[in-house]
Amino acid sequence: MSKQNIQLGPDGRLRHFLTIDGLSREILTDILDTAESFTGISERTVKKVPLLRGKVICNLFFETSTRTRTTFEVAAKRLSADVLNLNISTSSTAKGETLLDTLRNLEAMHVDMFVVRHADSGAAHFIARHAAPHVSVINAGDGHHAHPTQAMLDMFTIRRHKGDFAGLRVAIVGDILHSRVARSQILALNTLGTSEVRLIGPRTLLPADARSLGVHVYYDLDEGIRDVDVVIMLRLQKERMHGALLPSEHEYFQLFGLTESRLQHAKQDAIVMHPGPINRGVEIDSQVADGPRSVILQQVSFGIAIRMAVMSMAMGSQTQAAK
Ligand code: CP
Repeated sequence: MSKQNIQLGPDGRLRHFLTIDGLSREILTDILDTAESFTGISERTVKKVPLLRGKVICNLFFETSTRTRTTFEVAAKRLSADVLNLNISTSSTAKGETLLDTLRNLEAMHVDMFVVRHADSGAAHFIARHAAPHVSVINAGDGHHAHPTQAMLDMFTIRRHKGDFAGLRVAIVGDILHSRVARSQILALNTLGTSEVRLIGPRTLLPADARSLGVHVYYDLDEGIRDVDVVIMLRLQKERMHGALLPSEHEYFQLFGLTESRLQHAKQDAIVMHPGPINRGVEIDSQVADGPRSVILQQVSFGIAIRMAVMSMAMGSQTQAAK
């Protein structure tokens, strides 16, 4: 069965959200538009709507997270769902319980949706394939494979600042090789019709088949960010690196760290993004991270609206199917 079939219900609507791969521009635009309708809720005195009242959402994070886990929880609560946060380190996983047995036990508690982060690529697909028919699965990051809600909150941020994707030049800088975020961003940017996507980094941190992803490749930061509208910086993902791919962090910063003077090569109104966590003085200088062109904390706020959109769309599709 294709990934697309797994993600979409029989009516073609989103049932699981596992990857950007195979999703149409219409579905991605629908997610962005739905998120747009949710942004105002954060400004209200009572920051809640009853869309998922009575639904149970379980956060299953087998890997560390600050932004993704908490914004999923805030988003679920704003939709009035009941939220379970399974603490993996104190769960029976530590006693040898398999992922499938954990899943079956949580399903027995009538969970309607799993939000999954896992170090293994494909873990969210695995859970989606084995979940009960009424259950939705959202991928919150699996290995180096995909982080689709991060990509969508990034697309939301770009659309808010720059409008249409046509005519935009977007640069993604750094450790592309180990980045699930970059993979999802490239797919989303291309699906949404971005004019030019550039990947910039040392040869050792760019995938060998980078050009087949529909991007332009640069090994020099000053050259690569020339005249771009958006600069997306990435963290060095040392937890996924095997062997020495870099001389030192200091040397990496000299060559690929974003500083104020380097940013002058981009367009004057270029925005600077980063999925977080940031490593100051490694991939980005504090002056840039905290500067006027940085939209890094806006990305976090928009993450709530995007996650509300994805969860409500997936649950809406399930409710429709149950009728
Ligand atoms: N961007 C992101 O996934 O951050 P966390 O690891 O803190 O969730």
